[in-house]
Amino acid sequence: EAAEKSGYEHFMLKEIHEQPKSLKDVLSGRINELTGDVELPEIKLTQEQINDIRRIVIVACGTSYHAGLAGKYVLEMLTDVPVSVEIGSEFRYSSSRTDHHTLIIALSQSGETADTAASVKDAVKKGAYVIAVTNTVGSTIARESQSTIYMRCGPEIGVAATKTFTSQLAVMYLLSIYLGRRRNTLNAYNAMKLLSDLKNLPRDAQAVLDQSEAIASYAKIFSRANLFLFVGRHLNYPVALEGALKLKEISYIFSEGFAAGELKHGPLALLTTGVPVIAITTKSPTYEKMISNIKEIKARDASVIAIASEGDEAISQLVDVVIRVPDVGEIVSPILSSIVLQLFAYHVAVCTGCPIDKPRNLAKSVTVE
Ligand code: G6P
Repeated sequence: EAAEKSGYEHFMLKEIHEQPKSLKDVLSGRINELTGDVELPEIKLTQEQINDIRRIVIVACGTSYHAGLAGKYVLEMLTDVPVSVEIGSEFRYSSSRTDHHTLIIALSQSGETADTAASVKDAVKKGAYVIAVTNTVGSTIARESQSTIYMRCGPEIGVAATKTFTSQLAVMYLLSIYLGRRRNTLNAYNAMKLLSDLKNLPRDAQAVLDQSEAIASYAKIFSRANLFLFVGRHLNYPVALEGALKLKEISYIFSEGFAAGELKHGPLALLTTGVPVIAITTKSPTYEKMISNIKEIKARDASVIAIASEGDEAISQLVDVVIRVPDVGEIVSPILSSIVLQLFAYHVAVCTGCPIDKPRNLAKSVTVE
C-alpha cells in the first residue's frame, strides 16, 4: 500500500496532488482553440435534439451534487436553458415533467450510486436523454445512459472525493460551452476566453498546491475549533458547501456551508468569538457583497479565513488569514478554491488524528437507496 501512495501519507493527499494531471487529462483533446469549441464526440445528440432541449436536470449525490450546483450556474450563463439540480434520492419524488425535451446530466464519480442510478433509469423510461459524467468505465450509470463523458482521473481511493470533484467541474464547464456553442448562445470569442482559462488550470492548480505548507499551518491554528462555517455567493456557494462537506467527512468537526446572503437568516446566531468562518471571496461580480458579509462576520468577533485572488491586497485589512489563488476568470476559480479547501480539510483532520482515507460510517460508493 505504501508504494501505491507514492510517498504520500494518505491516498487523499496523493489524490489532491494529482490534480494538475487529472485536470490536464480531463481536458485533453476536448478543447479546439482554433474554432473556440469543445469536442465531445461521445455526445450523440443531433443538432435538432439540442435545439429541442427545454430544460436540463442535473442529478447527483454528495460531492457530485455540489459539482452539479456549480454546473447549473455555468450552464445557465452560457445557454438559454433553465437548469435544476436534484439530489438523486429526491428526484423520484419530483412531479416536474420529464420527457424527450428534458436533458438529464447524471454526475457520479463511481457510476454506481444507487439513488442516482435509479433516477437515470426512471428518466430514460420517460423519454429523457441522459448524459452520464463518471470516472468509471462500464459502470451502471454509464451503461444506462445514452452518452457518457469519462473524467479520466484514474482510481480515487480516498473516500472523500477530491480529484474527481474538480474534474466533474471541468466537465460541466466543457459541456456548458459545448451546448452554448450549439445553441448559439455563446460566441466563439467568449468561448475562446473560457477555454484558455481551462487550459491553464493544470498550471494554476500547481500554484495552489505549492502553498500546501502555509495552508497546513493555518489548518493547525484552527484545528481545535468545534464548529466551522463556510460562505460564498453564486459560483462560490457550492464551493462553500463542498468545503464544509470535506471537512466534516474527514475531521468529524461540525461544519456547514451557506450562501453568504443567508447568514442574516440564521447562521449569524452561531457566531461567537473565534468561530472560524471560511469566506470564498475570489474576484467576481459578487465580491463587494462578500466584503459586506465579511464585515458582518467580523462585527461578531468571529475569525475569518478568506480565499482571495492574487493581487487583492485590500482584503488583508479585513480578515484574519488570507489564502491566495491565481487571479483567473470567475468560472474556473471554484476549481482552484476547492483545492485550497481540500488541503485545509486534510490538514485539520491530520491534527485531529482521524483515519483520513476511511472515515467512520462512510463508503466510497453507496449502492443502497
Ligand atoms: C459517497 C462518497 C462521496 C460521494 C457520494 C456520491 O457518499 O463517500 O464522496 O460524493 O457517495 O458518489 P458518486 O460516486 O455518485 O459521485
